[in-house]
Amino acid sequence: MKFDTPAGRNPIDQLKVIGKPTDRIEGPYKVTGTAPYAYDWHDPTLTPLYGFVVGSGVAKGRIAGMDLTTAKAAPGVVTIVTAETAGPLGLGQFNTAPLLGGPEVAHYHQAVALVVAESFEQARAAAALVRVDYDEAKGAFDLAASRGSAKAAKIQTNPAETAIGNFEAAFGKAAVRLEETYTTPNEAHAMMEPHASIASWEGDALTVWTSNQMIDRSVSDIVKTLKMPKEKVRLISPFIGGGFGGKLWIRSDVILAALGARQAGRPVKVALTRPLMFNNTVHRSGTIQRIRIGADTDGTIIAIGHESWSGNQVGGRPEGAVAQTRLLYAGSNRMTAERVAALDLPESNAMRAPGEAPGLMALEMAVDEMADRLGMDPVQFRIKNDTQVDPEKPERPFSQRQLVAALRDGAERFGWSKRVATPGQVRDGRWRVGLGVAAAFRNNQVMKSGARVRLGADGMVTVETDMTDIGTGTYTIIGQTAAEMMGVTLDKVVVRLGDSSFPISSGSGGQWGANSSTSGVYAACAKLREAVTQKLGFNSDDAVFEDSQVRSGNRSLPLAEAGELVAEDAIEFEGLANKYQQSTFGAHFVEVGVDAATAEIRVRRMLAVCAGGRILNPKSARSQVIGAMTMGVGAALMEELVVDKTRGFFVNHDLAGYEVPVHADIPHQEVIFLDEVDPISSPMKAKGVGELGICGCAAAVANAIYNATGIRVRDYPITLDKLL
Ligand code: MOS
Repeated sequence: MKFDTPAGRNPIDQLKVIGKPTDRIEGPYKVTGTAPYAYDWHDPTLTPLYGFVVGSGVAKGRIAGMDLTTAKAAPGVVTIVTAETAGPLGLGQFNTAPLLGGPEVAHYHQAVALVVAESFEQARAAAALVRVDYDEAKGAFDLAASRGSAKAAKIQTNPAETAIGNFEAAFGKAAVRLEETYTTPNEAHAMMEPHASIASWEGDALTVWTSNQMIDRSVSDIVKTLKMPKEKVRLISPFIGGGFGGKLWIRSDVILAALGARQAGRPVKVALTRPLMFNNTVHRSGTIQRIRIGADTDGTIIAIGHESWSGNQVGGRPEGAVAQTRLLYAGSNRMTAERVAALDLPESNAMRAPGEAPGLMALEMAVDEMADRLGMDPVQFRIKNDTQVDPEKPERPFSQRQLVAALRDGAERFGWSKRVATPGQVRDGRWRVGLGVAAAFRNNQVMKSGARVRLGADGMVTVETDMTDIGTGTYTIIGQTAAEMMGVTLDKVVVRLGDSSFPISSGSGGQWGANSSTSGVYAACAKLREAVTQKLGFNSDDAVFEDSQVRSGNRSLPLAEAGELVAEDAIEFEGLANKYQQSTFGAHFVEVGVDAATAEIRVRRMLAVCAGGRILNPKSARSQVIGAMTMGVGAALMEELVVDKTRGFFVNHDLAGYEVPVHADIPHQEVIFLDEVDPISSPMKAKGVGELGICGCAAAVANAIYNATGIRVRDYPITLDKLL
C-alpha cells in the first residue's frame, strides 16, 4: 500500500480496541519466566556449547602474538576463535569497527578471541588463560583535546551544516545575547538484557537466536560480515530485554557465536558479560555544544546558532545534537553545525533519541538562561518564539505542532504560576526547592513496514511480521490493530514477531516502530478484508467487520465462514514527507529539592505533556514516557561513562559504577497526552512517544536546580560536587 495522501476515515477510527488502555498480551509470559529471551533454550534438540569473549587489553595497536596453548588444554575447551582461524571477515553497514579484532586493535575490549567450551564456567576459566601480547599505539581519547581536528559530518540525509539569513551580523547587534558552552558525557544504553546469541549451523545455513531491534538489516549485516548469501541466514528475536538503540545492529556476540559454532561443528551460545558491555558494544558519544542566541528586548529571537562536537571511530557518525535547533524555535537568522572528531574510544552510535536527547540538554538550558536574561517567564519566552513552519524551509508546515498547548496545559496542571522567578528563594525544611520547564521535541520518522495476516477457519487472526518488541508493547498494539481492522476482540488475535522468516517490518528504532509497524499491519488487514468480502460475496465498500461478523445491509455472516485466508502487504510512505514536517512535541515540568547543606539533589515531582499523534494504547504509551523521563533524570544527575584518557577506555564498566536511577530516585510521574490525530503521518494517524519522553527532560531538571539554588551547571551530569 502506498501512503501519499492524508488518511481519510477508515476502520481504525472506530476506536473499539485501538486507543483503549490495554494490558500487554505477552505480559504473562514475561512475569512467569516463559518468554524465551536470546540466551534461553529455543530448540530442545540442540545442546549448545558456551563461548566466552576475550576483549582487547589495549585501546589501540596490534596483536604481536597470542599464546593459546594453556587455554586449549584447559578442561572442557573445544575450540578457540581468533582473527587467524576466522579468516577474512567483512564489515556490516551499521558497524564502524570490526566485531572481531586482530591483528589490528580498534578499541579497548574489542573482541580478539572466543573460547568455546562445554560449560560457561569452563569457557570463562579458559578465557583467562589466553595470553595476548600487544604492540600498543598512542590513541586519541579526549574529545575536548581533539575538538580542533573535528570535521563536519552528516547523518543520513541531514546536512552537516545549515545557514539561514546572516547569523553573525544579527547576533552581533542583538540587544540581549547569550553565548555559552555545554557538555554532555558519554552514556551507555545499560539495558537490562545484555547482548546474547545462540548460533546453529545446518550445512551452510545459519540460524541465530539473538536480541535485536532491526531483524532484516541485521541479517544483511551478518551476511556482509560472514560473506554468505542472505537466504542462508535466519535471525530470531522474539523477546528483547531492552535495547534503547544498542541493539539496532549486530554486535560481537552474533558473529562470534556463528564463527564458534562453525568451528566447533556444534551450536554455540555467547552472552556478553556486563563488564564487557560498556567497552565492547556501542555508546552515546559525549558532546561539546556551543549555543548562541540573540533576541530583541521584547523576547523575539532574531539569531540562533548551535554547534556540536562529538567523537567516534574514523568513519563513524556524529551525535546529531543540533537537529532540533533547526526546527524548534522561530528566528530569521540561524546557523547549525555538526562535527565529529576521530577518537580511539569504542565506537559511538545511536542511543534513545540520538541527537535530540543531548541536543535538548544544552538547548533547553540555554533557552532558560536566555529567558532569565530577558527577565521573561521561560514558558512565555518559548511560546513567544513558536513557529508553525519549518524555520529553515518556511514552505513546509508542521503536520501537527502542539508545543504551545503542551506548555500551557503543563503550566496549568503543575502550578507554574506559583514559581518564584528569582532563584534560591524557596525553602522546605532542609531543602531548597525549585521548578524547571523544558520543551520536548522529537522528529517523526516513518518507515516501510510489512506484515502477513491469516484468518483461520476458527475465526482466529494471526499476524506475522519481523517487527520487534523491545519492551515497548509492540505485541499489544499490533494485536489491537488487527482486532480493530478485522472486527474481533483482542483474544482472537495471535501476534508472532521477531523472525526473519516473516515479512520485513520497520523494526524498532527512532520512535517510528509503533506507527510504522501497525500501518504495515493495517495494509495487510485491508487486503485480508478484501479477500473476506470477496469470498463471502459482500460489497467491500460498505461491509462492516464487527463482533466477529461481516455485515452489509441486513445480511450478516460470521467472519470464520470465510475459512482459511492469508494476505500480505507493506506500507510505503511516499510524497507527503516532502510537503510536511512531521514532529512530536511536549513539555516537561520538574520540581527538585536540593539539600541546603549537602547539595543532595532529589526530584520531587515530574509532569510530561505529550503531543504525539493518536495514542494507540495509552497504557503502554504512558509506560514508554515514564521510562523515558526516568532516563532523563539519569542523564541529568547520574549517567556518565568516565574516560581513562591515558589508557582509552570507560572506567565504570558495570552497574555499580555506571549509575542509573532506581525507584527511590523517582517520584510519582504524571503523563498527559494531548488530543491529537495526525492524518498526514499514516493511516493509523499515530506518531511515536518512546523517545519524545526523554527529550528535554534532563534540561527541565537542570533548570529546576538553577531555580532552587541560583547555580547554573552546564556540564552534565549535575552531581552534587558541582553545586558546592
Ligand atoms: Mo533508537 S536510539 O533509534 O533505538
